[in-house]
Amino acid sequence: MSKVLVIGCGGVATVAIHKCCQVSEVFTELCIASRTKAKCDRLAAELAPKTSTKITTAQVDADDVDQLISLINSYKPDLVMNIALPYQDLTIMDACLACGVNYMDTANYEPEDTDDPEWRAVYEKRCQEEGFSAYFDYSWQWAYREKFEKAGLTALLGCGFDPGVTQAYCAYAKKHEFDSIRTIDILDCNGGDHGYAFATNFNPEVNLREVSAPGSYWENGRWVEIPAMSIKREYDFDQVGHKDMYLLHHEEIESLAQNIPGVERIRFFMTFGQSYLDHMRCLEDVGMLSTTPIEFEGHQIVPIKFLKALLPDPASLGPRTKGKTNIGCIFTGTKDGEEKTWYIYNVCDHEECYRETGSQAVSYTTGVPAMCGALMLLTGRWNKPGVHTVEEFDPDPFLDALDKYGLPRSESRTPVLVD
Ligand SMILES: NC(=O)c1ccc[n+]([C@@H]2O[C@H](COP(=O)([O-])OP(=O)(O)OC[C@H]3O[C@@H](n4cnc5c(N)ncnc54)[C@H](OP(=O)(O)O)[C@@H]3O)[C@@H](O)[C@H]2O)c1
Repeated sequence: MSKVLVIGCGGVATVAIHKCCQVSEVFTELCIASRTKAKCDRLAAELAPKTSTKITTAQVDADDVDQLISLINSYKPDLVMNIALPYQDLTIMDACLACGVNYMDTANYEPEDTDDPEWRAVYEKRCQEEGFSAYFDYSWQWAYREKFEKAGLTALLGCGFDPGVTQAYCAYAKKHEFDSIRTIDILDCNGGDHGYAFATNFNPEVNLREVSAPGSYWENGRWVEIPAMSIKREYDFDQVGHKDMYLLHHEEIESLAQNIPGVERIRFFMTFGQSYLDHMRCLEDVGMLSTTPIEFEGHQIVPIKFLKALLPDPASLGPRTKGKTNIGCIFTGTKDGEEKTWYIYNVCDHEECYRETGSQAVSYTTGVPAMCGALMLLTGRWNKPGVHTVEEFDPDPFLDALDKYGLPRSESRTPVLVD
């Protein structure tokens, strides 16, 4: 019997809310709150006849801590699921602390305005000290550790697929499969085709920032940074086939480097088609990925926001997308004195996801883990005051829940390794 407040009503939240409503014995009451209330009302009306979860809706600007506090105090949820954008992580964490409520999200904090001088000063110091230059990192949210511990509250960070399930796979490998893990390669393959020459599968601003940034990986206790898209490999993915993939910086590498003792190397690869890369390079070259406002015919325009308005809404890709995703981790290391390799992954079909929830697999593979993470918190299996990432919790009940609710695991004990 739990009351949950979901903030955000985009692609990922829509899947998470569908899934919560399938587990109505735990998610007895749900409030969907977002910037555009009409979206929340539409989803609530669609789900009401199919579930016994009692759904209400609200309008909230999650950049405004006072608005959040008054919403949380009036609804009194057991958990706030932040499925808005990474820009709102800190304001929502502040509001949860003020109201004494557990928190979770699916992506770590980054600022909306990367030209903000106050943020930029902290960022540039971190780039120098840590050695990677992505706009997002855990330091902002890890700074809340003591506050959440003292309040006896749990904040679960990054509970989507990657970050999220990939860290549960690492925790599982550490618990059951290896005495010591030497290398981890996280492979994120989207074999889906939506038929457009160019579109992003989730929020274009967040997505384009991520893929246009320099890549980096963890090796022998330090970050190695490389120019964007400069390390390319080809891999033959189960049920998808051969794809080109590129090394990216990714947020879970930062926490895994701390939580997997003795690991020598952690890399993250994501597949991209040539058309996507050609469009992205061109947009970047002409300045369309910039977050700095420009003056245009008397108006201030942020180029990447204007681009977002031109691109297809990720939510509209669902009915057009065919094919599968395959996301997982390849490990090398030792067990009982023997060298060992192991690959754990999930394959997810875009069209099946769409039939079930009205969203394609990229939203589905994030929304289902968000619901399963909430389930772990609400049923007491993952409660640990403080601010934690997924690999810090017992992976077993979480992976069982993923198997049950739509993202079953597959494995190979003889995987082809990435050189
Ligand atoms: N871990 C993973 O594997 C993974 C993978 C993909 C995405 N993600 C993360 O999942 C999250 C959601 O992504 P998405 O694709 O669902 O994005 P999306 O479709 O753009 O949806 C974002 C939602 O947040 C709402 N929102 C934005 N700013 C707000 C504010 N100030 N106050 C209240 N609501 C606000 C939006 O409202 P409007 O409708 O008014 O715009 C929209 O409903 C993002 O943080 C993304 O980085 C994680």
